[in-house]
Amino acid sequence: MENTIKKKSRTVTRRAFLQGLGGGAAGAALATRMRGQNAGAGQAGIALPPALAQKTITFTVNGKSVSVDVEPRETLLEVLREKLKLTGAKKTCDRGECGGCTVLIDGQAVYSCLFPAVRADGRQIITVEGLAEGETLHPVQQAFIEKDGYQCGYCTPGFIMSTVALLGQTPSPSLAEIKAGLSGNLCRCGNYVKIDEAVAAASQKMRKA
Ligand code: FES
Ligand code: FES
Repeated sequence: MENTIKKKSRTVTRRAFLQGLGGGAAGAALATRMRGQNAGAGQAGIALPPALAQKTITFTVNGKSVSVDVEPRETLLEVLREKLKLTGAKKTCDRGECGGCTVLIDGQAVYSCLFPAVRADGRQIITVEGLAEGETLHPVQQAFIEKDGYQCGYCTPGFIMSTVALLGQTPSPSLAEIKAGLSGNLCRCGNYVKIDEAVAAASQKMRKA
C-alpha cells in the first residue's frame, strides 16, 4: 500500500503540476513574474489574482507545529529548505526522478520536490532531521553508518527516509522487497550493495529493539 501511494505521488509530473497552476510554462512564467511584482502590487494596493496570492498553511514538521505563508507555485521541498531551513531533504533533480528530496507525509514516503506546499496544510511531515532522539540516531541512520551505506552521502537522506517508510510497512523485507521499496531512489555513486545491506541490518536492529 505504502509503495503504491508513493508511486502514485510519483506519477505527478512536473508538467502536470505546472499545468495545475494554470497553463503549463506560461502559467509558471506568469506566476514567477507576478511573484516578483508582489511587493510593488501590494504597495500600489493592487490585489493579486486569488490563484497567485499567498496562503498561510499550518502543519507539523518533526513534531513541531509550524505556520508559513506559501504561494501556489511553491513545493514542499522549497518551503522546507528555504523557509524552514531544514536542508536534509536534497534538491537534486527537482523533477521527481532521484528521490533525494524524500520525506514522510503522514507516514508515506513522498518526493517533496513534486508536492505542492499548499497540500501540506494539516499534515504530519517528518524529515531526516526528525529521526534522531537527542544524541541517539534512528536505527536506520545507525545501520547506514555501520554498513557504509553511503559514499558522497548526497542521496543518503532520501534513502534513509524511504527505508524508514519501507520498514514501517514491511519490518522484515526480502532482498527483492528492499530493492522494490527503494526503487524510487537513485545513488549516483552506485553504492546499492551496501545500501541493501544497511537496510537489512536496520530491519534486524528494529525487530530486536
Ligand atoms: S529532487 Fe525530488 S526526486 Fe529528485
Ligand atoms: S552515496 Fe553518492 S549519490 Fe549515493
